[in-house]
Amino acid sequence: MFKTVEWRNDSVRLIDQRILPDKEEYLDFTTHEDVAFAIRDMVVRGAPAIGVTAAMGAAIGARAINNGSNGAFMEEFDKVIATLAEARPTAVNLFWALDRMRTLALANSDKTTQEIKDLLDKEAVKVYEEDLTINKTMGENGATLLDDGDTVLTHCNAGALATAGDYGTALGVIKAAHLAGKRISVLADETRPWLQGARLTTWELMKEGIPVQLICDNMSGSLMRKGKIRKIVVGADRIAANGDVANKIGTYMVAALAKMNGIPFYVTAPLSTIDFGTESGDYIPIEQRSPSEVTSIMGKMSIAPEGAEALNPAFDITPNELVTAIITEKGIARAPFTESLARLR
Ligand code: MRU
Repeated sequence: MFKTVEWRNDSVRLIDQRILPDKEEYLDFTTHEDVAFAIRDMVVRGAPAIGVTAAMGAAIGARAINNGSNGAFMEEFDKVIATLAEARPTAVNLFWALDRMRTLALANSDKTTQEIKDLLDKEAVKVYEEDLTINKTMGENGATLLDDGDTVLTHCNAGALATAGDYGTALGVIKAAHLAGKRISVLADETRPWLQGARLTTWELMKEGIPVQLICDNMSGSLMRKGKIRKIVVGADRIAANGDVANKIGTYMVAALAKMNGIPFYVTAPLSTIDFGTESGDYIPIEQRSPSEVTSIMGKMSIAPEGAEALNPAFDITPNELVTAIITEKGIARAPFTESLARLR
């Protein structure tokens, strides 16, 4: 089985998601600047995986700081955190993980800088290990919502590749149901423009032996209307306190059509993806990526005239009224989400 992210003591090893499924290659990143690049350039992607990688990047950055006074260490460590925080704006797990590392360093300011560095190393591994456990629990919680024989639509990649590994979030629900003996088949949206669904979700599910069929993004509405989709399960990059969900661009269209066709629309995310400090989706920053991702297929083949302009918002907001339930490691939340999510905190 592949490893999404791996702590190697003096480096972070990542499977290069930019070239999957053509090549299964691993890259080692030895500085926090390089880790920030890996996140920005999407060597690693998916909200929980970004959080885990950032925690490891912070530990690596801390290590490179000269042992001096604690005040000078914290000043340098804040620069490390700032560099990593600039990598991508939408997935809140990035900021959650960096805040956790910074808070730990501050809480141990009475220790030597070497001791603080050792604690940060251990914390990064803890963030990784916790993510694995949380995903399994989430999967088991969510599997109760799937029935034998269901065809489930998913969008983007919310599997092992989007997390520390193993279960993933939305795909964890499908995997847990599959392991429980339910016959689940999956329809995977290709997820233009970066093709996370085509390249990553189908690859993962085929490796797991879970039946999957790839569809273009513009096919799901018609399939819903024809009764070919029983349930929808997606992940999230950030969920506001009121249950509005930021997820991969195209999720909103899927959710709106699900509502219109009476199909349950489930979101699976760990509590680290819930941004209780953000009141609604209106305040979630949406990453704008290069138009070249839209005007070409993975930078390989141009599909628009030379010089064509394009828009490339990487995420959209699904308003909470379109969400049937949010599956977390602490349980399943339903409307009204402001109250139900707060209870799980
Ligand atoms: O741009 P990406 O590939 O990082 O976006 C990822 C997604 O939108 C996933 O659906 C989301 O992070 C949930 S993954 C557990």
